[in-house]
Amino acid sequence: MTHNKTRLRTPTELSQSAAWQALAQHANELDFNLNDAFSEDLKRAENFCVHSENISLDFSKNLVSEETIKLLLELASQENLQQKIQDLRCGKKVNSTEDRSALHSLLRCQNSDDVPCNLSDEYRDIIHVKEKLKKTSNDIYNGVLRGYTGKPFTDIVHIGIGGSDLGPAMVYQALTPFHRSDIQCHYVANICANDICETLSGLDANSTLFIIASKSFNTLETLSNANTAKQWLLKHLTDEEAVAKHFYAVSAKPEKAKAWGINTQFVFPFWDFVGGRYSTWSAIGLSLCIGLGYDNFNQLLTGASELDQHFFNTELDKNIPVIMGLLGIWYTNFHQRQAHAVVPYDHRLRRFPQFLQQLEMESTGKCSNLQNQAIDYDTCPNIWGEAGSNSQHSFFQKLHQGTEFTPIDFIAVLQSPHNLVEHQDWLIANCLAQSRALMVGQTDDTPGLEQHKFMPGNKPSSTLILKELTPKTLGALMALYEQKVYVQSVIWNVNAFDQWGVELGKKVSNTIKQAMDNEKEISRLDSSTAALLKAYLNTK
Ligand code: F6P
Repeated sequence: MTHNKTRLRTPTELSQSAAWQALAQHANELDFNLNDAFSEDLKRAENFCVHSENISLDFSKNLVSEETIKLLLELASQENLQQKIQDLRCGKKVNSTEDRSALHSLLRCQNSDDVPCNLSDEYRDIIHVKEKLKKTSNDIYNGVLRGYTGKPFTDIVHIGIGGSDLGPAMVYQALTPFHRSDIQCHYVANICANDICETLSGLDANSTLFIIASKSFNTLETLSNANTAKQWLLKHLTDEEAVAKHFYAVSAKPEKAKAWGINTQFVFPFWDFVGGRYSTWSAIGLSLCIGLGYDNFNQLLTGASELDQHFFNTELDKNIPVIMGLLGIWYTNFHQRQAHAVVPYDHRLRRFPQFLQQLEMESTGKCSNLQNQAIDYDTCPNIWGEAGSNSQHSFFQKLHQGTEFTPIDFIAVLQSPHNLVEHQDWLIANCLAQSRALMVGQTDDTPGLEQHKFMPGNKPSSTLILKELTPKTLGALMALYEQKVYVQSVIWNVNAFDQWGVELGKKVSNTIKQAMDNEKEISRLDSSTAALLKAYLNTK
């Protein structure tokens, strides 16, 4: 017996629809074997491969026939995907619960001809902020803007969390070869003070610049870290005036940043039409403009914009984000897969799965649809991953021999800036080996094979190919997943741009902190939480 107060999951229009039902029936009937599919169609690799300017997708090792793709595309057209893509591009209020557009593509748009005409005011504001980003970041790097004691800045500490941290932190790490000399960026997010303490130890307050990145300028972690950073600075520089020179802010609530003490000149705005997890392209990327140089930041935007143009203008059957989104629907809803792994074969991309976790799970981890009904189908799977080849020595055992399969995205970066050819050869050999081994398996056909060595094979994966990792290709890769998420949100009929689910945790944290400060309140908690809290209080 379950006591969950679940909302009634009445059959939705989507799950009852003709295209959905056709896919369900197809999944039931399809007895698909990848090895056979390759033997029967010698051009399968070619036929199941799509290209964009900077990225290609080989999706031939997926459990899909031509019929499957046809049915998935019918689902897309039933759900009006083409129109909904244009709605996103043209600034329709796709974030219905907050009555907002989602204009991250406009942030990175490089060509005014690509700006929908109703968005020219927003585009003008974006360009204005980009000019400020360019000038300020150059002035910081060139020592025109300096610290309170006249020293040029050598260290930039970006303080933010979630969408105000994961993108910039991931990009900075991924683009190590593009780091400018003489200046280093650091990223602090966690309320756990070990994060900021580790970062600040060894830094010189005279030459450290803090960027407070918070869309709301109201986030506990960010404001706590900002206050700690302020105290640290004042301890070393002993004059309140120093704050105005060492703290910059990026926020959609500039007045709050000013009230906190940031010099008006150093407050960079962004807008409600930019979702936190889609904000790397805005002034949230200020640290990147400084640490990589503005031109490299703009290259990141250029690559993303090229991917956007591919997404907006390519027919659905050749459209990489569309194909990836539909494959996800196929596995989540018609193979009941609740996990999806992403494995980049480039050490520099090791934070990419973490970035995707927020992007995907905060966007489509939803249980109500746009009509505010409880839905009767699954949405976002658990996204997880780790760089290859490391991950081969951790979770790949389960991928090869676990009792269920997990679809995987491999990301292969063909060339690397180092000249250790043997390493690169082995890296790529390992990447290709995994998708092939998962597909081929090791089966009964092998004479005398013991059961513990049996591997069923027929496990699906896709491979994304980037020629090299540059600001441009990385921008394209990030935008590809952003647009894939949008495709899935359209099919699942959920809002990809709100995140009400994280609010309850914040509220309960406040309740517990109150109980921590006033022990009388503890009795209002359940006995488990009360005992855990007392265990903590006893250590004080
Ligand atoms: O915790 C959820 C969240 O609201 C994210 O969506 C957001 O990226 C993050 O917190 C940080 O929010 P802010 O930029 O307003 O500080």
